[in-house]
Amino acid sequence: MFNELNNRPADSLLALIKAFQADNRAGKIDLGVGVYRDATGRTPVMHAVKAAERFLLENQESKKYLGPEGDLEFVRLLEPIIFGASPDFANRLVGIQTPGGSGALRLGAELIQTANPSATVLLGTPSWPNHAPIFGSARLQVKEYAFVDLASQQVKFESVIAALSSVGEGDVVLLHGCCHNPTGIDFTMEQWREITDLLVAHRLVPFIDLAYQGLGDGLEQDAAPTRVILDAVDEALIAYSCDKNFGLYRERVGALYVMTRNGDDLRKAESNMAALARVNWSMPPDHGAAIVRTILESPEMTTMWRAELEEMCLRVNGNRAALATASADLAFISRQRGLFSNLSMSKETAAALRARHGIYMADSGRMNLAGMQPADAGAIVAALRAEGCL
Ligand code: LMR
Repeated sequence: MFNELNNRPADSLLALIKAFQADNRAGKIDLGVGVYRDATGRTPVMHAVKAAERFLLENQESKKYLGPEGDLEFVRLLEPIIFGASPDFANRLVGIQTPGGSGALRLGAELIQTANPSATVLLGTPSWPNHAPIFGSARLQVKEYAFVDLASQQVKFESVIAALSSVGEGDVVLLHGCCHNPTGIDFTMEQWREITDLLVAHRLVPFIDLAYQGLGDGLEQDAAPTRVILDAVDEALIAYSCDKNFGLYRERVGALYVMTRNGDDLRKAESNMAALARVNWSMPPDHGAAIVRTILESPEMTTMWRAELEEMCLRVNGNRAALATASADLAFISRQRGLFSNLSMSKETAAALRARHGIYMADSGRMNLAGMQPADAGAIVAALRAEGCL
């Protein structure tokens, strides 16, 4: 049987983890996979997370199954952070815990496929490289359009408008709620409002990927576009990740929220989400969600977490400022938000930056700004100049 398989290349983004580890050069810089590093170059476990783990170690009384929905208190406690306090649409929302934001995207894709197998998913490119494969493997048709021009680092807003006008009722539009991965280029609030008007006019279903809340301009500001959209549309999906803003990466902590037109649809969506989770992973892993719940149940731990997240956000934006100061050609980086910016370069140039300069970024030219130190800015700019990127 297995002789029928074709070899597949390793995921080129995740392959950078091992390539960086194998590099013995002292000055190497990791701008690859999206993880945060502090001033000492480590990706620390947040103090709030450690406090919650200590609490769980002492107080958790059972590890019995919770069910396919996972920890519903975790799901509920995240709601005001994402959607604001008592939004009008609260009674049309249902959520379920998922293994990371990827699990939420996959579950959402299967829910769409179950409800409307002929739905098209509109995806602006470049996007996170796993978006199209996730929707494709859920047997949904993906229609890509150019969202950004990397040479000018500008949104191609006419292309966004044209794309949204080219699909019809019940089609799905994947949107990055904040901190666009890979470009760091987010829509302005005015552009978000225009997009919202089009979603409503064409009866499109937004699928918002919110994986970096708090790492752009802060928790509230980063949620603003999501809230504007949900205030206006009838139906929506939100894939949420706690992997970055709680630093829980390998614990895989996420949630899928679905907004429906009415209570009947809500119950249908809820039962289908649970059934789809059951055949995929049966029940999600608990530990990461239990940590987030424990933090959010405790005012002290929540204050600690918010302060740590704010510090991370400031540091990433400080790294952006350092690069912009080191070269006027990189001034745009300080206007972008989140972990990433995407330079316009060939795969060969990205490989040369790794081989000749020990600077690891994705083949696409995506840089993780959370991976560097402000003091690295000079070396990064020099390497980019040497390879003709600036
Ligand atoms: C990234 O984009 O670097 C992260 O989301 C890690 C991943 O799973 O690709």
